[in-house]
Amino acid sequence: MTTLTLALSKGRILDDSLPLLTAAGIAPTGDAERLLRLPSQNPDVSLLIIRATDVPTYVAYGAADLGIVGKDVLLEHGGDDFYEPLDLGIARCHLSVATRKDSPLVHGERPFKRRLRVATKYPNLARRHYAERGEQVEIIKLYGSMELAPLVGLADVIVDLVATGNTLRANGLVEVEKICDISSRLVLNKAATKLKHDALHGLVDRLRAAVETRRG
Ligand code: ATP
Ligand code: PRP
Repeated sequence: MTTLTLALSKGRILDDSLPLLTAAGIAPTGDAERLLRLPSQNPDVSLLIIRATDVPTYVAYGAADLGIVGKDVLLEHGGDDFYEPLDLGIARCHLSVATRKDSPLVHGERPFKRRLRVATKYPNLARRHYAERGEQVEIIKLYGSMELAPLVGLADVIVDLVATGNTLRANGLVEVEKICDISSRLVLNKAATKLKHDALHGLVDRLRAAVETRRG
C-alpha cells in the first residue's frame, strides 16, 4: 500500500482544516498540539505539523507528498515547485497595503522624494507588487506585528493580511489598496503525482468532495 505524508501549517490553518480532514478520513489521531509527526485516521496517511512558511519547502523537496498552506506563503515562496490543484476556501483573508489614517498617502499624496518604505513579512511579494507598477520601494522585512511600523515611523506603509480589519482599526491604520484575496491551498509534490498517482489523486478527490460539501 502506498503511504502519503501531508504537511499541515500549525495554528489557524490546522484548526480550520480539521473539519475537512475529518470529512476526508484523515483527521489527526495523536496530540496535534505537541507531536510534530502523527498518524491520521487513515493508516496510509501520516501528518506533519510545521510552521506555515516551511510547508512549501517540505513539499518541494518531497519530505511531504502534499501540503496545506496559505496562498500568501505560496506567493512569497514563488516559483513553480509544486502543483496547486485545490482551493480549500479556509483561513480566508486578503493582502492589503495599509497606512496611518492621518497619512497624506491616504489621499494619494506623496510629500517626500525618497522611496516609499514598506514594512512586511512578505518582501518578495511586496517588491513584485510595486515593481508591476514601476515603483522601486524600500522593503523593511519584519516577522510580526507589522501594524506597529507606521505608528513609530519605521515605515510609510505595511503590506499585511487583513480579515476583519480589527487589528488595523485598533492601531489607527486604514487600507489604501487591496492586493489580492487569500485562502489556503492544497499543494502537491510534482514527483509524487507520478510515483504515487493513484493514492495521491484518491486523497485529492476526497478533499475536493469535502470542500464541495462544505460549500453546500
Ligand atoms: P508563523 O508562525 O509561521 O509566522 P503565522 O503566525 O503567520 O505563522 P498564522 O497566524 O496561524 O501563522 O497564519 C497562518 C496562515 O493563516 C497565513 O499564512 C494566512 O494564510 C492565514 N491567516 C493569517 N492571518 C489570518 C487572519 N487574520 N484571518 C484568516 N486567515 C489568516
Ligand atoms: C494576522 C495579520 C493581522 C491580523 C489581521 O495576524 O498579520 O495582524 O491577523 O486580522 P484582522 O483583520 O481580523 O484583525 P495574526 O493574528 O496571525 O498575528 P501575527 O501578527 O502573529 O501574524
